[in-house]
Amino acid sequence: MNRTGGSLRARLVLQLVAVAAVLAVMLYFTVRSTADRAAEATQDAILGAATTSIAEQLRAGEVGVEVDLAYATFSMLGAMGQESLFYRIDIAGKTVTGYDDMPLPATVPISLAPVFFTSAYLGSELRIAAVARSIVIGKTLVPVLVMVGQTRQGQAAIADRLANRAALLGLGFFVLAVPLSLLSAGSVFNPINRLAEAVRRRGPRDLRPVRDPTPRELAPLVAALNGFVARLRGALSQTETFIAEAAHHIRTPLSTVRTQGEIALRQSTDEATRTRLRAMIRGVEESARSASQLLDHAMVLYRSDQLEREAVDLSQIARNVARAFAPTAELKEVVLVVKGDEGPMLVQGDPLLIESALRNLVDNAIKYSAEETAVALTLSQAEGMVTLTVQDQGRGLSGAGLAELSRRFTRGGNVADVVGSGLGLTIVTEVAAALGGRFVLTEPEQGGTCASLSLPQA
Ligand SMILES: Nc1ncnc2c1ncn2[C@@H]1O[C@H](COP(=O)(O)OP(=O)(O)O)[C@@H](O)[C@H]1O
Ligand SMILES: [Mg+2]
Repeated sequence: MNRTGGSLRARLVLQLVAVAAVLAVMLYFTVRSTADRAAEATQDAILGAATTSIAEQLRAGEVGVEVDLAYATFSMLGAMGQESLFYRIDIAGKTVTGYDDMPLPATVPISLAPVFFTSAYLGSELRIAAVARSIVIGKTLVPVLVMVGQTRQGQAAIADRLANRAALLGLGFFVLAVPLSLLSAGSVFNPINRLAEAVRRRGPRDLRPVRDPTPRELAPLVAALNGFVARLRGALSQTETFIAEAAHHIRTPLSTVRTQGEIALRQSTDEATRTRLRAMIRGVEESARSASQLLDHAMVLYRSDQLEREAVDLSQIARNVARAFAPTAELKEVVLVVKGDEGPMLVQGDPLLIESALRNLVDNAIKYSAEETAVALTLSQAEGMVTLTVQDQGRGLSGAGLAELSRRFTRGGNVADVVGSGLGLTIVTEVAAALGGRFVLTEPEQGGTCASLSLPQA
């Protein structure tokens, strides 16, 4: 398991939710202050109109000024709710009616356009509108100041209600933002999951660069992945070349040594030298076999990692292998026959792997057989599988099982003086596994050993 560096998804969701929370709080304050201001502006307009209307209805009489506090004016103000009202009318700087201690505005009004201000009065907050005009009394122009003040408890209540609603709205907005951010975070990671899926679905041999369309932001990742794939491809092809070259470089000089040894053996008359030469030839033979099996094994491991499946004719391979082993069989006077190869037997697999497995089976069959016996290669077909059975009349397995004999470099207790490296059955088992086939090794009643390799039919 990889060490994880936290979850990008969680981080993204957290950030989105945090942004939503900030926006919700901002929404609350904006709604609240806008509502406050709107309510104040409306009430100011009414208060101003009432004040102006009182000022306009001032009439100069013969002795003084006539003030008409029309009921309509105050009922208009009363419509705003249960508020207390105060007024003050000053003529020539003296309060003639109303509350003479009502606070005066900081800037004195000069016309009927009202000046508004807020001031504390008699223990409550008062919103006051003030207007000014002049009237002629007698023959002189005297300034008149009219002020009407009003408490704003109703407005505060309305503002509180609006604020509560704004808070609810903000909360709803935030609650909605959580699933939405989960959803959008999910959609952000979809392309990454698709890319991973595309890479995962690839066949083992598929070392092409990734070309699936991906978002621009993933381009560096895809480029790095492709670079890695390219390096891997290079390393694998180097391995393939190495295996082929190593096989060549080891087999060729060994066969030269062997040929030279045989010539020397034929020419020598000295018995001691002949014995030594025989031992040498046998040693060389053994190393040649081990080397080629080791290389075969490396080849099988390499090729099963990047399998190329094609339709392969098992009859053809069986005949080729039998032909290649004919001289060896002849030396031991073993009759090597192929049966059931009349028509093509197509299997799904890699020809080199199959041939390597078959070579090892036939090699064992001949090696562990007595002289003047028979080895039969039989092909048959059943249930979507093609089976090749290699049956000998040799010494049998002495009760040993495949699980044990197919271990690397493991040889049976029945080998006596037969040369070997213990890799043959390892190779066969690996090939069977790589190609989705089956391999069984049995000792039939009539004696000998029966090895059968089944491969999926093409
Ligand atoms: N046809 C056979 N007859 C008898 N014994 C066999 C046969 N094939 C395999 N074996 C046993 O299985 C062992 C493992 O086989 P293998 O992996 O090919 O190694 P090697 O042939 O090099 O000893 C052999 O050592 C031998 O004991
Ligand atoms: Mg063997």
